[in-house]
Amino acid sequence: MLNNKIKILGISGSLRTNSSATSVLKQTASLLPANTVLQLYEELGRLPHFDDSLEVPAEVIHFRQLVAEADGVLICTPEYAFGVPGSLKNALDWTVGSGEFVHKPVAVITAASVGKNAHASLLLTLSAITANVAEDAKLLIPFIRAKLNKKGEINDPALLADMQRVVNAFVSSIEK
Ligand SMILES: Cc1cc2nc3c(=O)[nH]c(=O)nc-3n(C[C@H](O)[C@H](O)[C@H](O)COP(=O)(O)O)c2cc1C
Repeated sequence: MLNNKIKILGISGSLRTNSSATSVLKQTASLLPANTVLQLYEELGRLPHFDDSLEVPAEVIHFRQLVAEADGVLICTPEYAFGVPGSLKNALDWTVGSGEFVHKPVAVITAASVGKNAHASLLLTLSAITANVAEDAKLLIPFIRAKLNKKGEINDPALLADMQRVVNAFVSSIEK
């Protein structure tokens, strides 16, 4: 923890300009309590493709360090072609051998047109790397484009309550 603040690393699974996942990530982060500090990881697209026969690239060392130093990781991702976006899966693959996600509290929001395949697949990958995803710290938001207003914000009170529930469960899993 940093100056007694809980350190959260936020990762969007989308590299796109005007990404809906990044919008949801930022709005979810705004629901975090005052005793947290958020760092957005914005270098997902610069991570080399996974290949552990090479010397570990500097970008990977940096990513692993950010995950290791974070008290918890908040991931928001879309679904592409029935799966987790390759760039996000690539980043997670880089931690399989080095173990930064082992027992790490993680929250997962999948925001997509449908999204159930990516959501299930990401949770499976996180279980492979023994991340700690609390029961209530996961949420699938289908039809995401229809739920965002022109500013890229969710206004629906029921959905906002679901996002707050994810945040609360996530922070509790860190404080345990
Ligand atoms: C290349 C591509 C593939 C997609 N495939 C799926 C899919 O298989 N399932 C789904 O639910 N949505 C799919 N979508 C829709 C996205 O989930 C949706 O447009 C989402 O808002 C994109 O998130 P982003 O703006 O954060 O990248 C796809 C979108 C793109 C661009």
